[in-house]
Amino acid sequence: MIPKSDDRAEVYKILNPQIEMLISDETDLVANQANIVAAIRQAFGFFWVGFYWVKENELVLGPFQGPIACTRIAFHRGVCGHAYTTRQSVLVPDVEQFPGHIACSSASKSEVVIPIFNRERTKVVGVLDVDSDRLNDFSEIDLIGLEAIIKLLEKKL
Ligand code: SME
Repeated sequence: MIPKSDDRAEVYKILNPQIEMLISDETDLVANQANIVAAIRQAFGFFWVGFYWVKENELVLGPFQGPIACTRIAFHRGVCGHAYTTRQSVLVPDVEQFPGHIACSSASKSEVVIPIFNRERTKVVGVLDVDSDRLNDFSEIDLIGLEAIIKLLEKKL
């Protein structure tokens, strides 16, 4: 049950344990990713929420919710590539101001990307990409909330 609230910190606080429960008994990684992106999109109404995974030396589209997206992203390209190479979360208030941003849709205005680490935390194995159709839609609260959700998934990798 996701509350209708404009207070995102409050929504993440309630969403996080629900996602934990949702994925706790399931070992299939695709099933868990599918439910995670559905839960995030349902909670906040973001334009696009999805995973990219490191495969064959690039980032390849995984489970997502939203319009059709680019299937492959080179490691050095776009916001996703930036999160991959810097190994840090990236918050982009205005995608048009981000050099090299890959516009899968012109409706996407701001974006946040969270790197996903392997168990040993030695390498980035994928990223979570969240796009909004509103400018400047993300803050530190989203970074903290989404990173916490990704930590739940990393435990299952
Ligand atoms: N905008 C991303 C590409 C992925 S789509 O937005 C779903 C980027 O610049 O990496």
